[in-house]
Amino acid sequence: MATKKKAPQMDAIALLKTDHKKVRLLLETLDKTDAPARRTKLLGQIETEVKVHAQIEEEIFYPAFKRKAKESEEMEMFFEAKEEHGLVDIMLPKVKSANPGGEEFAARAKVLKDLIVHHAREEEKEMFKAARNLFDKDELKALGARMQTRKRELMRSMK
Ligand SMILES: [Fe+2]
Ligand SMILES: [Fe+2]
Repeated sequence: MATKKKAPQMDAIALLKTDHKKVRLLLETLDKTDAPARRTKLLGQIETEVKVHAQIEEEIFYPAFKRKAKESEEMEMFFEAKEEHGLVDIMLPKVKSANPGGEEFAARAKVLKDLIVHHAREEEKEMFKAARNLFDKDELKALGARMQTRKRELMRSMK
């Protein structure tokens, strides 16, 4: 009898980076896609992924990071990241409201992509790097487990 292999538990940073990779790929695909129906489908996937990802960061990872932050630079990373989430929240509905067959959609999708790619890069290069110093391995594992559980819940509620 075949037993289902359980995916290894990722720590907080590995989990968030995996999400980033998936979203970047979806955004790149959207950028290269012209067919309206396909654009709409991709945008729907991006919206779900981005919303769930931002929510687990805002509920779990960011507050934990803020509590640990010692230096003013680390606090700046926290506040900047939060503001960038706010920009994504403004941009996503703008893409959604554009006609998927038009030039405006392509332009808005490109701006959304640039915004998210920039944000994810800064998280990875600055915030996650700082987090590796601020948290120990067990803490990162525990945060990862909490985010994974919450992510499953949110994904279920979005279907
Ligand atoms: Fe983020
Ligand atoms: Fe992120």
